[in-house]
Amino acid sequence: MSHLKEQFCTRIIDRYCLNKRGAGRETWHIVLEAEKELPLFQPGDSIGIYPLSQKPRLYSIASGPSAGRKRIDLTVARVVYERDGVLHRGECSNYLIEGAPLHEPVLSCFHQPSRHFIFPKEAPVIMVGAGTGIAPFRAFMQEVECRAVTPEKCWLFFGERKSGEDFFYEEFWKRQIGQGRLRLHVAFSCDQEHKVYVQHRMWEEREEVWRWFQQGAHLFVCGHAQKMAKDVESCLLDIAKDEGGMNQSRAEEWLLCMKQNKRYLKDVY
Ligand SMILES: Cc1cc2nc3c(=O)[nH]c(=O)nc-3n(C[C@H](O)[C@H](O)[C@H](O)COP(=O)(O)OP(=O)(O)OC[C@H]3O[C@@H](n4cnc5c(N)ncnc54)[C@H](O)[C@@H]3O)c2cc1C
Ligand SMILES: NC(=O)c1ccc[n+]([C@@H]2O[C@H](COP(=O)([O-])OP(=O)(O)OC[C@H]3O[C@@H](n4cnc5c(N)ncnc54)[C@H](OP(=O)(O)O)[C@@H]3O)[C@@H](O)[C@H]2O)c1
Repeated sequence: MSHLKEQFCTRIIDRYCLNKRGAGRETWHIVLEAEKELPLFQPGDSIGIYPLSQKPRLYSIASGPSAGRKRIDLTVARVVYERDGVLHRGECSNYLIEGAPLHEPVLSCFHQPSRHFIFPKEAPVIMVGAGTGIAPFRAFMQEVECRAVTPEKCWLFFGERKSGEDFFYEEFWKRQIGQGRLRLHVAFSCDQEHKVYVQHRMWEEREEVWRWFQQGAHLFVCGHAQKMAKDVESCLLDIAKDEGGMNQSRAEEWLLCMKQNKRYLKDVY
């Protein structure tokens, strides 16, 4: 797929860990500068990066084009795991976080436009992101902040592990809330004994979530496919049953209709 795409060279101009001290895992903010302006990209688009092995990895762009057409922010989780007593380190994530030298044009990239994860210009928007799934929503809200797009209203459900350590881009979200652009619900899974996830917050807010759907809201889900996105989908069906008075098959039809009308969009990996 990517081999046909135009490649360009980028340098890393800044990078820092988004977790505060004490976090057991790391997610980094990486700022890339491309050698030339990208074609007009949109929140929801990704960047393909060739690490040394030449098998490209995709990353959601975490900045809006208004921040600059050469600038590409990423939210990258460091992949490191142990198998059979051997420590494995993900190639591309570790290269971005510490292997690649700063300020040197060593990364070959391509722009991967999203064919489906496309934000509406005016309708209400509900965003659901856990972990690195927050990236496209930061890009979108940057565009809302500079009024490049004017959705009626925006609501973010964000999930991570600990509020004191893993509240990625906290100041940015607080500014959006303070200036009346965003409603936010957070789910920090490890702040209490039992796990609390984004879908639990959606369920607590189901009456209002359903009202937003009645008002034409578009729903965006980004992050872990097997875990979070699957459970969010079950939660949506439960909300349709509880708030919409539907049985299971009617709720499934409603969700299918949301998908067909491009009002339920997923970018999951
Ligand atoms: C559309 C899309 C968007 C994406 N956006 C982002 C993003 O915004 N941010 C982000 O961080 N990532 C994102 N990813 C994931 C990213 O593309 C890479 O897959 C990820 O960074 C790992 O690449 P790597 O080279 O570091 O690891 P690799 O060297 O490719 O190693 C990863 C492989 O290691 C194995 N592995 C990983 N963890 C374990 C484990 N615990 N136990 C056993 N085996 C394991 C799996 O086989 C896995 O495929 C996205 C993926 C897609 C498809
Ligand atoms: N398909 C894949 O293989 C895939 C997809 C996405 C990410 N990853 C990898 O996973 C690592 C971290 O990813 P990430 O930073 O994006 O975060 P993540 O692992 O998706 O975790 C983010 C938050 O989601 C919570 N979560 C776990 N299960 C959930 C569920 N069923 N429903 C809702 N929320 C749930 C986590 O809680 P707890 O951890 O406390 O349970 C955590 O609070 C990275 O190495 C990344 O590359 C792999």
